[in-house]
Amino acid sequence: MKKGDKPLRSQAWFGRQDKMGFYYRSFLKNRGFPQDQFDGRPVIGICNTWSELNPCNSHFRTIAEHVRYGVLEAGGFPLEFPVSSLGEVTMRPTAMLFRNLAAMDVEEGIRAHPLDGVVLLMGCDKTTPALLMGAASADLPAIGVSGGPQLRGVYQGQIIGSGTNIISMSEQLRAGEITLKEFHEAEAGMNRSHGSCMTMGTASSMASMVEALGIGLPTNAAIPAVDARRNELARMAGRRIVDMVHEDLTPTKILTREAFENAIRTLAAIGGSTNAVVHLIAIARRIGVDLTLDDFDRLGRGVHCQVNLMPSGQFLMEDFYYAGGLPVVLRDLAEQGLLHKDALTVNGQTIWDNVKDARCWNREVITTPQEPFKPDAGIAILRGNLAPNGAVIKPSAASPHLMQHTGRAVVFENIEDLHHAVDDEALDIDADCIMVLKNCGPKGYPGMAEVGNMPLPQKLLRQGVRDMVRISDARMSGTAYGTVVLHVAPEAAAGGPLALVQNGDLITLDVKAGTLHLHVEDADLAARRAAWSPPPEHMDRGYTRLYVDHVLQADEGADFDFLVGKSGSPVPRDNH
Ligand code: FES
Ligand code: MG
Repeated sequence: MKKGDKPLRSQAWFGRQDKMGFYYRSFLKNRGFPQDQFDGRPVIGICNTWSELNPCNSHFRTIAEHVRYGVLEAGGFPLEFPVSSLGEVTMRPTAMLFRNLAAMDVEEGIRAHPLDGVVLLMGCDKTTPALLMGAASADLPAIGVSGGPQLRGVYQGQIIGSGTNIISMSEQLRAGEITLKEFHEAEAGMNRSHGSCMTMGTASSMASMVEALGIGLPTNAAIPAVDARRNELARMAGRRIVDMVHEDLTPTKILTREAFENAIRTLAAIGGSTNAVVHLIAIARRIGVDLTLDDFDRLGRGVHCQVNLMPSGQFLMEDFYYAGGLPVVLRDLAEQGLLHKDALTVNGQTIWDNVKDARCWNREVITTPQEPFKPDAGIAILRGNLAPNGAVIKPSAASPHLMQHTGRAVVFENIEDLHHAVDDEALDIDADCIMVLKNCGPKGYPGMAEVGNMPLPQKLLRQGVRDMVRISDARMSGTAYGTVVLHVAPEAAAGGPLALVQNGDLITLDVKAGTLHLHVEDADLAARRAAWSPPPEHMDRGYTRLYVDHVLQADEGADFDFLVGKSGSPVPRDNH
């Protein structure tokens, strides 16, 4: 559609010459907007997750200003609005509990207001899926702008990645090997600039998904937060969204099955976070794409990880950007026949058009697919009588000797039980045991916290044990690794078979076969089930009540049952 072919949605507010038109325009004029601002030009919402309680997004006022310049330059009418901001490190019991709440805020905020398109400002882990889920359900033209990663952490001349050195340094402090002053200096050295975690954790994985899905501009994933080119990207997004409104280029046209398949393969090629599995499924189901765990298994198999970034590698997001960033990975995937080249992106070009001329400047940071950093790095899906609806494991983060393993279960009923028992010298556990943690799933925690990479018992650490098979219905941080089976569905608190595991049961994990088996007869399991009762509730009112009553299991994206799908953005009734 060309400019001016059809009145825009916002004209149902601002284009009226009656009592309600007076009302809708007049109150905005308190900002000094002249009458011609209401002449039918696209009204662009700048959906901002700025918050001082979410340090990773604390520079978003500046980014929003650059989006605003771009919208104005292209002849649009920018209006910034706040939505819930989810700070991964500040929110308890887990930011994930509030992802769906923020997604509702975004969806309803877009629909209720006189908007024709939106620019989504997102950064810290859960802000990205929350904004994409809400924008997908509202389905107005939308473009994602990530806040970008922090500069490399540096302490005492050493490069440190987000989160990766915290455990070792807290151990050193406990052992008296470093002083409290040094400990505090390391805190400041790790987080020394604006931006999100600079490892390939969840925030960087999701920023990469924004680019791979085509819902963000090329290079969105890796430009550091404080690099001037991040502001330039924001400005270009502001310009571009105005045209997207004229073209009616909605998320439905971008977030296709092909786009999600591209994202899944990209996730494998960057060695991305397991959290992206839950988020991509949730986003897809909002837009009407029935993405399943089997898609991850099928598409991720045989894709090599090319990106040598912490937590499993050596470098950080800043290095990734200087080496050429995600366009290089997308180009390499396409050249192996692993990308749907025709997938449309927000700049109006196909993904292949965007990346075909990408060049790599450092093959140590971004390896070639022929000599990959880690071969066959896709996330593997496990099924069996212990996880009838699936579980996930990141083979590239696991120990080869544990990929096929049978062991005796050592069971922790909940996170408090784990913390209380794990370092007890009397705990009956050895390196071949399998640690099982229950009641940390969506309903159980509640919010499916990142506690699946359980700490190993001190007495085994002292013996030199560095990894063990761990199984739970929890998630794990994108900065963690180990032979960790996550997202077991159905979860224990919902009565999944995980709830029935007892100390001493034998469990077999076989990553290659994709199985997770509990060696207990069906009749015995049925007897255990008859004696089982759900764990006590955490809250009997408010949002947590709503969450526990309506959250879907991990394999369905842990969205609310009533939020799956989209309603578009029909103009609501007048408010007076
Ligand atoms: Fe916000 Fe890592 S804590 S991005
Ligand atoms: Mg986290």
